[in-house]
Amino acid sequence: MSGQETIQDALRILKEGGLIGLPTETVYGLAANALDKEAVKKIFNVKGRPLIDPLIVHVASIAQVQEIAHTHALAEALMKNFWPGPLTIILKKKACLPSIVTGGLATVGVRMPDHPIAIEILKAFGKPLAAPSANPFKYVSPTQAKHVKQQLGDKVGMVLEGGPCKVGIESTIIDLSDAKNPIVRRLGPIEPTALEAQLGKPVKSLLHKPKHEKVFISPGQMDRHYSPHTPLELFKSGSTSIDLKNEKQTKKVAYVFQRRQATALKVQNGVDIYWLSEGGDLKEVAKNLFALIRRLDDADYAKIFIEQAEAEGLGKAINDRLERAASKSP
Ligand code: TXA
Ligand code: MG
Repeated sequence: MSGQETIQDALRILKEGGLIGLPTETVYGLAANALDKEAVKKIFNVKGRPLIDPLIVHVASIAQVQEIAHTHALAEALMKNFWPGPLTIILKKKACLPSIVTGGLATVGVRMPDHPIAIEILKAFGKPLAAPSANPFKYVSPTQAKHVKQQLGDKVGMVLEGGPCKVGIESTIIDLSDAKNPIVRRLGPIEPTALEAQLGKPVKSLLHKPKHEKVFISPGQMDRHYSPHTPLELFKSGSTSIDLKNEKQTKKVAYVFQRRQATALKVQNGVDIYWLSEGGDLKEVAKNLFALIRRLDDADYAKIFIEQAEAEGLGKAINDRLERAASKSP
């Protein structure tokens, strides 16, 4: 099938109220016509997602935002500066957008993805697309088409092949539903300081932060999310005194570092070593993170240990994902 036929097929599925797996620069989305209530309901069913958890709406233009939400100068300044790109902006919604999309909220999160296939589909379809990450509820987000096919392939009309996602973690979310009071609600690839520089005022962060212990993190009350089925434990960035050992020995364990480790590392039998980036580059870590967690989850490890990133810049968003993935609370 040629690329053009594939696009035509995807557009037909969307028109008929079906779902497609859609590549974006952050993670793959599970997309439906945002203006079709029945189509959007299928997203919640396929993901097993509670109806109160709102979906992000993807658009091809600022004009399309204006059709579904009440925008303002500050929000549009961010759109012009950061779109297409990994920034979701929460605004007051208009009545034409079905309330199932926003989980009953009076606000909607909108973003323009930076991926040629997503943009081509959005432009040709002419309507906004509701799309959460294309993973079963609470599991690790997909960063390759095959991740979506493996888990949801039989439940969606088609999965568009768009290559590995170049960013690899989900968009930053800023709430601008009150223009006077900007709030970051999810850390992501665009840092709060970049938003502050553009807005010319401070931005609050209202994030549910997990609780820490000294060396190993014992997850507190935060939401479990992005989680593999294999038990996952974190260790502190740059730890030099961790014991690379396998206590149980019946099955192997995996240790994942931020950067390549010296070959001189003393490792016990039954322990495999991985790293997320050769030199510890945070962008590379973000790009590889979910794919490696999925790969290790599919291998037969008793436990996965992952080193936290340095808590600077993108490292904070990476650690947010890691802490939720390791959380044992519901
Ligand atoms: O990068 C991304 O944002 C990806 C790609 C596919 O675009 N999408 C994504 O969607 O991560 P999802 O559904 O997995 O995460 C969306 C998050 C949820 O935590 C949801 O609660 C929050 O955004 N959200 C959406 N609309 C909201 C709103 N109106 N108010 C507050 N939070 C909202
Ligand atoms: Mg998600």
